[in-house]
Amino acid sequence: MVTSRTTAVYDEHADWYNELMSPAGSDCIRRVHATLGDLLGHGNGGTCLDVCCGTGAHAPTVAALGWSPVGVDLSRNQLRHASHRLPVAVADATALPLADRSVPAGVCVLAGTDVPDYAAVLREIARVLAPGGRFVHLGVHPCFVGAFADRRDASRTVIDAGYADRSRTFASWNTTGVRARLGAWHVPLSDLLNGAMTAGLRIERTVEAGPDGVPDLFGFTATAGPSGD
Ligand SMILES: C[S@@+](CC[C@H](N)C(=O)[O-])C[C@H]1O[C@@H](n2cnc3c(N)ncnc32)[C@H](O)[C@@H]1O
Repeated sequence: MVTSRTTAVYDEHADWYNELMSPAGSDCIRRVHATLGDLLGHGNGGTCLDVCCGTGAHAPTVAALGWSPVGVDLSRNQLRHASHRLPVAVADATALPLADRSVPAGVCVLAGTDVPDYAAVLREIARVLAPGGRFVHLGVHPCFVGAFADRRDASRTVIDAGYADRSRTFASWNTTGVRARLGAWHVPLSDLLNGAMTAGLRIERTVEAGPDGVPDLFGFTATAGPSGD
């Protein structure tokens, strides 16, 4: 199964990934935290489910906003790091061990390209969100980051004809990043937005962020419909 292969890949690289996601790691990580905070907004102590939480790098940001973060991930070795930062459980994001309409908030950060079917993850998140519950997606920018995008010259990102290729690949302009090391799927912008809307999530706000005028992050805040779907 593709998902178990993904788990094994992250199990092997969890120590490296934990180091990579250190808050002191890079400007990009700091921007991820700032953008996540901006999109999620303040909570009142309610649970915020961190779907595909990895090493739990965003738990301090979520907690500082007043939410109680709880993480799920397939990779036990990623969760070994995360367990120092938030309560965690091993779970598949496409089959969350949670009741319908049971959580007030959820986030999924930098993981939309780590699953073969992100639309299925969005459907599952919509299922467990309480009516009116808030969900934040934050990931690499679908239009400007991927195997089809050459970002070597920070002032001139070059996009090639591979944009429509959704398959998993290790091809990357950058030999030291996650994609080159662990591989990634591509989720075109329309797939991402249609996936959220088809799941019943109401997109309230979108954000693009990036260091050089060409954004490398894209995110949105959405709410669950009144019936929770
Ligand atoms: C790039 S990491 C992102 C981790 C974390 N959200 C962050 O921003 O640092 C992607 C994570 O997705 C997890 N993952 C991949 N497929 C999954 C699935 N079907 N269910 C749960 N977690 C999954 C991997 O194990 C990995 O920890």
